[in-house]
Amino acid sequence: MSHTPQKSAGEANRAVTTLRLVEMKTMGQKIACLTAYDALMARVLDEAGIDVLLVGDSLGNVVQGHETTIPVTLEDIIYHTRAVKRGAQRALVVADMPFMSYQVRADEAFRNAGRLMKEAGAGAVKLEGGRRIAESVSRMTESGIPVMGHVGLTPQSINQFGTYRPRGRDEEEAQSIVDDAIALEQAGAFAIVVEKVPSAVAERITNSVRVPTIGIGAGPHCDGQILVVTDMLGLTVDFHPRFVRHYANLQQTINDAVHSYCEDVRNASFPNSSESYS
Ligand code: KIV
Repeated sequence: MSHTPQKSAGEANRAVTTLRLVEMKTMGQKIACLTAYDALMARVLDEAGIDVLLVGDSLGNVVQGHETTIPVTLEDIIYHTRAVKRGAQRALVVADMPFMSYQVRADEAFRNAGRLMKEAGAGAVKLEGGRRIAESVSRMTESGIPVMGHVGLTPQSINQFGTYRPRGRDEEEAQSIVDDAIALEQAGAFAIVVEKVPSAVAERITNSVRVPTIGIGAGPHCDGQILVVTDMLGLTVDFHPRFVRHYANLQQTINDAVHSYCEDVRNASFPNSSESYS
């Protein structure tokens, strides 16, 4: 017999709010999150019941073809958040703050977060870092801007760390990540992404804060999970970290479909008479 709490029909249709996510942690209901970058995919994911759509700066890799997330601009995130917002009915839309949009000064971070809410229609913003950004997070949350934190592996710091290896494998780094998560909660964050840390460290964080933790490569003890949508759909062919489960192989499906289309066009079997106007 399954002990997984079930959602009632009413709950399934109710718009997801930041408050609702905290309630879900309290009630032991896991939170399902994915990234999205456009209206079409946002609609499909929303209709399938996803709780949170993150307009991640991973769009730098996935959509723009960059090696890292560093080149992504605030204007890029505004553009994609507007599109995702048009496709989403129920899910909470969270906009990622890109590199250098919040690191320089708290007042600049505050103004840029405000643009993501006001111009792009985000329901919340996400920032990477812990204690060093706590002042900015407080400023935002005190003014009604909901903030999702992000600790552990923080891809915007790739040039400082030089590698995407898991974080928090030694006790000193593990405790530092726990302290970052606690600082984010104290600054008013409503949820915290925990990326690529050992399961035991993610469990420590989850037990140290009352707000939900959303894991990616952080094991099963987080209150929710997030993946990059193109990874879990099997569209990203050259990226195979152990934490990605492939729920489809769309790369192969699309390849087969396009192959068939090319063949049909070239042998003149497409379009046929029923696909043509008289
Ligand atoms: O940018 C992103 O997609 C993210 C998630 C992987 C958490 O930050």
